[in-house]
Amino acid sequence: MLSTPVISGSRPVRPTVSPTRLRPADLLRITDQGAQDVLDGRFEHLVPGGEWPTAARWSSRLHADDDVDVWLISWVPGESTELHDHAGSLGALTVLSGTLAEYRWGGSELKYRTLTAGDQASFPLGWVHDVVQAPDTSAGLGEPTLSVHAYSPPLTAMSYYEITDQGSLRRTRTTLTDLPEGLSA
Ligand SMILES: [Fe+2]
Repeated sequence: MLSTPVISGSRPVRPTVSPTRLRPADLLRITDQGAQDVLDGRFEHLVPGGEWPTAARWSSRLHADDDVDVWLISWVPGESTELHDHAGSLGALTVLSGTLAEYRWGGSELKYRTLTAGDQASFPLGWVHDVVQAPDTSAGLGEPTLSVHAYSPPLTAMSYYEITDQGSLRRTRTTLTDLPEGLSA
C-alpha cells in the first residue's frame, strides 16, 4: 500500500525566470548614466533644432543592443500615456528635469506618486501605469520634463487598460511596438 505523501505546510519557493539577464538595479544604473550623458551634452545632436520640443511628447533612442533599449523622453503638459504595461520587458527611468506624475494600478485602485529631477523608478513585469508631466512640474513654464528610460529585453509590445465600473482592470488592446511609454498610441 502506498503511503500518503507528506505535504509540507509551506509552499516550495520557485525561482522567477527573468526574460533578461539585466536586473532592475542594472536598468536603474543605465538610466542614471544616460541622464548624466544627456546633462553633459552628449546627445545635443539628437534634439531637433537644438530646442526641446514643447508642442508634443517627443522621444529619441539613445542606445540599443540585444539586451536593452535606452530612450530620452521629453514630456509636455496634458499628454498622458494611458494605462499601459511593458509586455515582457522590465523597465526603469531617471528624471533629469521637471516632474512626472505616475498613476500605478495597485490591484484595487490607482496609486499616485510624483518623480522629480534625480528620482528613479523601476518597473517589474506586470507594472501597469499612466505617466504624465505633473501639472506642478518643477520645470519652468513651457519647459518639458525630461527623463531617460531603459527597457530589457527591448520593447516589442504594450498592452493598454481601462478601469471598469466594477473597479477592476480590463485590457483593451495590445500593440506591437518598440517605442516607449505610449508613443505608439
Ligand atoms: Fe510605462
